[in-house]
Amino acid sequence: MEASVEETAAMRRALALAANGPLAGGNPRVGCVLLDGAGNVVAEGWHHGAGTPHAEIDALSHAVPGAARTAVVTLEPCNHTGRTGPCSEALIAAGIRRVVFAVDDPGPVSGGGAARLREAGVEVVGGVLADEAAAFIEAWLVARRRERPWVTVKWASTLDGRAAAADGSSRWITGPQARADGHRLRAESDAILTGTGTVLADDPALTARDAEGGLLPRQPVPVVVGARAVPSDAALRRHPAGLVEAGDRPLEELLDELYARGMARVLVEAGPTLTSAVVAEGLADELAVYLAPKLLGGPATAIGDLGISGIGDALVYEVRDVRRLGEDLALTLRPKEA
Ligand SMILES: NC(=O)c1ccc[n+]([C@@H]2O[C@H](COP(=O)([O-])OP(=O)(O)OC[C@H]3O[C@@H](n4cnc5c(N)ncnc54)[C@H](OP(=O)(O)O)[C@@H]3O)[C@@H](O)[C@H]2O)c1
Repeated sequence: MEASVEETAAMRRALALAANGPLAGGNPRVGCVLLDGAGNVVAEGWHHGAGTPHAEIDALSHAVPGAARTAVVTLEPCNHTGRTGPCSEALIAAGIRRVVFAVDDPGPVSGGGAARLREAGVEVVGGVLADEAAAFIEAWLVARRRERPWVTVKWASTLDGRAAAADGSSRWITGPQARADGHRLRAESDAILTGTGTVLADDPALTARDAEGGLLPRQPVPVVVGARAVPSDAALRRHPAGLVEAGDRPLEELLDELYARGMARVLVEAGPTLTSAVVAEGLADELAVYLAPKLLGGPATAIGDLGISGIGDALVYEVRDVRRLGEDLALTLRPKEA
């Protein structure tokens, strides 16, 4: 069974609607368009974030009861009761006769919605614009399959890869536009991981702020790793999202625990010691590098020893995006598949 032209167009619209949802919060960004028997749009919806109705329910809430025949949704409808009820049951109860979706839900608990719908006699078509939809929620899909957060490692460095000057100062390597972009990254994350070294050297606030210094609506939880204590007067102790002092423990174990606590996107903003450890352990899904057209020289590189002795063993990345932000460059990179 294939999707009709109207259904494929509705899927494009559903993907655009999905983009209205938040990246942080542990849930995927999902859009839904309801069509009548003639393929006309009856209602639209999207998921507004964890704890709020899923896209299908949002769309149904905007439709005249009985008017919609087909639901076009970017992710397989869920089949479980979490903070909200199963979408499969809601669609069946609303009299939806056909469901067209893009990507299978890989979740061991939430998956199975397509099978439940078929069992109830609903026509189900999966895989429509699947590649586009999967690329759109890639971080969430990877985290869900692995049951560990998507990890973005961020640093700001000079042209010669220096993350601090000889005296340890690193404020501000980059200009205001790059820093604003960094605050956006924070707001799109559920947690920010840093090391005690950075806390003791910089006393960072690790809040997500706008250009005027005001707090953005979404704040990531700061997580500090390391045996040393966070000082009692540290700025992090006043963080609006609280503070997690993780102590000295295996990073994989910590990430697993953060995922279990609903944190699916983690941003690493640390000094060379922790940043190198995250990269060397293969835990970085993405690098966000802000490059300032400056030279500092000296030993304070953004990345320390990775245990690599020969060029053939270099970790290789694929450049996904390059942006110019004022005087600086912002690079988004992914590990290159072997
Ligand atoms: N340019 C940038 O983007 C940027 C960003 C952040 C910081 N910095 C600069 O970086 C410097 C601080 O560097 P840093 O390397 O000392 O800080 P760091 O990497 O943030 O913290 C290092 C500490 O993390 C702890 N840790 C916990 N688990 C670890 C693991 N698996 N592997 C390694 N470390 C682990 C250890 O703490 P314990 O010793 O307490 O166990 C270690 O000493 C400052 O000059 C700061 O300004 C620059």
